[in-house]
Amino acid sequence: MHRQKDVNPVYRDLSQPVEKRVDDLLARMTIEEKIGQMCQYSGFNEKHEALLRKGRVGSFLNVTGVENTNKVQKIAVEQSRLGIPLIFGLDVIHGYKTIFPIPLGLASTWDPDAVKKAASIAAKEAASEGTHWTFAPMVDIARDPRWGRIAEGAGEDPYLGSVMAKALVEGFQGANLSHLDTVVACPKHYVAYGGAEGGRDYNTVDVSERVLREVYLPPFKAAVVDGGAGTVMSAFNDLNGIPASANRYTLTNILREEWGFEGFVVSDWNAVGELMSHGIAGTPAEAAKEAVEAGVDMDMCGDIYQKTLDQLVREGKVSEETVDEAVRRILRIKFKLGLFDNPFISPERAGEVILCKEHLDAALELARKSIVLLKNEGNLLPLKTNLDSIAVIGPLADDHEAPLGPWACLGDLENVVTVLEGVKAKVSSNTKVLYAKGCEIEGTGTEGFEEAAEKAKAAEVAIVVVGENRDMSGEAASRSSLDLPGVQEELVKTVLDTGTPVVEVLMNGRPLSISWSAEHVPAILEAWFPGIQAGYAVADVVFGEYNPGGKLPVTFPRTVGQVPIYYNHKNTGRPPSSERFTSRYLDLPYTPLFPFGHGLSYTQFEYSNLRIEPASMKVDGAIKISLDVKNVGDRKGDEVVQLYLRDVVASVTRPVQELKGFKRVTFEPGEKKTVTFTVSSRDLAFVGRDLKWIVEPGTFKVMIGSSSQDIRLTGSFEVEPS
Ligand code: BGC
Repeated sequence: MHRQKDVNPVYRDLSQPVEKRVDDLLARMTIEEKIGQMCQYSGFNEKHEALLRKGRVGSFLNVTGVENTNKVQKIAVEQSRLGIPLIFGLDVIHGYKTIFPIPLGLASTWDPDAVKKAASIAAKEAASEGTHWTFAPMVDIARDPRWGRIAEGAGEDPYLGSVMAKALVEGFQGANLSHLDTVVACPKHYVAYGGAEGGRDYNTVDVSERVLREVYLPPFKAAVVDGGAGTVMSAFNDLNGIPASANRYTLTNILREEWGFEGFVVSDWNAVGELMSHGIAGTPAEAAKEAVEAGVDMDMCGDIYQKTLDQLVREGKVSEETVDEAVRRILRIKFKLGLFDNPFISPERAGEVILCKEHLDAALELARKSIVLLKNEGNLLPLKTNLDSIAVIGPLADDHEAPLGPWACLGDLENVVTVLEGVKAKVSSNTKVLYAKGCEIEGTGTEGFEEAAEKAKAAEVAIVVVGENRDMSGEAASRSSLDLPGVQEELVKTVLDTGTPVVEVLMNGRPLSISWSAEHVPAILEAWFPGIQAGYAVADVVFGEYNPGGKLPVTFPRTVGQVPIYYNHKNTGRPPSSERFTSRYLDLPYTPLFPFGHGLSYTQFEYSNLRIEPASMKVDGAIKISLDVKNVGDRKGDEVVQLYLRDVVASVTRPVQELKGFKRVTFEPGEKKTVTFTVSSRDLAFVGRDLKWIVEPGTFKVMIGSSSQDIRLTGSFEVEPS
């Protein structure tokens, strides 16, 4: 093996600034080595090893564990000419081994600090086993629950989505990337991937510049500009005619020039190669040129850069400066992560942190916070722990798999607590717990109904756990129906027909159209996929040890026919009403089944005393909005106080309401607190007629409430020209 003569090169000198180290290293690299940094492969095999020894691999994904990562890193560091360390990436989406609720559940907490903590725990566990980089957070806004990937994001709202995006990035990356407990974040899928037509994954997206900037881009901006994310993943989809992974406008003009992003962009899996299927490239070389010139620095699993870029450079079709710039961005992150100085991982750390008590406690806390009480007629919930008998029924009641969700990373089934286990752990020793599966999640078999009915009949109350299996959401998991799959709704009916009071617990990765249940079942909890502590969290809520305070980050439609349905819609020229010639359906109410922001509690909150100070502001000023909230019930509980605004008259049509602030606050019984929001021009801006951000003078309506529909206080303020 041939080594540089220079025994102490600048790039190895920890005391030198990162930019100097990058420049020094770049100057030593051959074109093949440069392109190597731009190539990422999944897993590790002989072919990869040969490339790695030649310095022709920059990153692996799905190489995990201390032993594996150290083994592969050793080849890079000790056996390639320049010894450039690898960056190991992995989908650490909602936990590494300690699995938290799916991201849609995390968003339901409306608690960015708790979510940040979850991400920092995931980072700590992943980093302890040699992962440097997570392909998260997914910050795609989704207004179409047919799209299975809605499970992976924060739902439909750009404001909530932005708050969550920033929290997750900060949690993963910590204060300093070189710290051993952090991983670099990769907000994805840039951009507008969630706008897939028909909710069909990977499908075409065609959105206006205004919708792109007001709805789809804000969470990315929050992740990159406010959160400081080090990398970004370019998406699979075609965006307004130009695939996202060949889109210079979004990848360079917006991301780098407007936002000042200095990290690197990795393509989604073979998204560079897929430029040929999109039909904007005829050959792999054309695909590579399109992607690299648009601003995709690393080719995930496509092998396209590896095979074509050096020739493109030699022929002058792609400039060496373009390659240098991409490599510079990649190396910059590797230096910031401290990989040159600390390429290996010590085996002790993992044992200390993975699945430790603190992490399990946090997973329980997040799961409890994520649960949304959709309905609670006659205060059926909470149940007493000393009932004589409880039936726990349903295909998800004792399922160890589903609670992990679609992206469970290295989560183990054996660590999952099911609802049945959670209930058994919680009830008194005299309570009989009867269990029946009833049916499968999918399929038509009803043989188990009889047993389910018998068990329900014999019990004082029945908890029925229904929903989706973990593969029904996530990637390539679009559905054309939002109903409960299989015969589960019939199972719920069968149990309800016994006359025993029913609590329905939903586990699913998307809003479901549970209109029948919503009308007939007295109590319904949305638990999403709650992670490994699922059963304890559900039981804590069911038995009132924890008072639910989660809120929906996404609208629940009555049927799939209402999709897309979202709270921040436009008013139209004929707002829906009972009149015929208005924007409505003949065969269905236009209102949602459960609105965005909805979620009940075992206590009640009273809102009063709205103050808006001052009563007007300049376009570049700020205003303070405060109110009093009192817990008027007799239980401790959390309320998510939500602030919505409406720009009443503007030069372009504006949504009927837009979330602009929220606070999750804990109240003791009888406790009253003042909640304050500051609204600044940033919250009032929209994309004007000339497609530039603008704040227009005029009246803004203020709506404060417990959900987007349950508005308790209203007021207004004026914006004056500056
Ligand atoms: C997904 C990404 C993921 C990547 C790597 C792709 O198929 O779209 O979200 O990060 O695979 O696993």
